[in-house]
Amino acid sequence: MNRILIAYFSASGVTANMAQTLAGIVQADLYEIVPAVKYTPQDLDWNDTESRTTLEMADPASRPEIGSGPIDVSPYDVVYIGFPIWWRFAPHIINTFLESYDFSGKTIIPFATSGGNDMGDSVKALIPSAPGAVFKEGKRLGGTEDKEALKIWTDGLIL
Ligand SMILES: Cc1cc2nc3c(=O)[nH]c(=O)nc-3n(C[C@H](O)[C@H](O)[C@H](O)COP(=O)(O)O)c2cc1C
Repeated sequence: MNRILIAYFSASGVTANMAQTLAGIVQADLYEIVPAVKYTPQDLDWNDTESRTTLEMADPASRPEIGSGPIDVSPYDVVYIGFPIWWRFAPHIINTFLESYDFSGKTIIPFATSGGNDMGDSVKALIPSAPGAVFKEGKRLGGTEDKEALKIWTDGLIL
């Protein structure tokens, strides 16, 4: 049986809620990617051209530091990666996470919550951060899906 990890970042709890529900369905371990410096409401203001998230997302090289302790990813065959869509992409702390470990040979299944945008090119931008990993097509969730809805998605994945 595959060993499954769900690693997620969530600034305001929507993605966290999906990650927790998913963990129960696919029998996965959960790892929260917590920023070393947490995002304040001001940091998350996308209307502010100088806010932390606006500046980070405009800088492809930004790699916000992770504050949660290290995890041994070696036992896992399948890794779900959850995040909110920010400026149509994954928050760069997801790149930080992927670049911190060796995911080669593992299957990565991205999922995201958003205000409306789908995955767009967000997965494409993560692929260079996990060389040798096999990325599945990502899934955008609305944030209110129940167990049944998530199970239909995960049952349909060919791993
Ligand atoms: C800085 C920032 C940028 C965002 N950019 C987008 C976007 O481009 N498209 C979209 O549909 N939603 C966007 N959103 C909305 C979030 O993706 C959405 O609220 C998400 O469910 C939040 O998840 P979380 O509670 O796990 O952080 C943005 C939110 C923030 C804070």
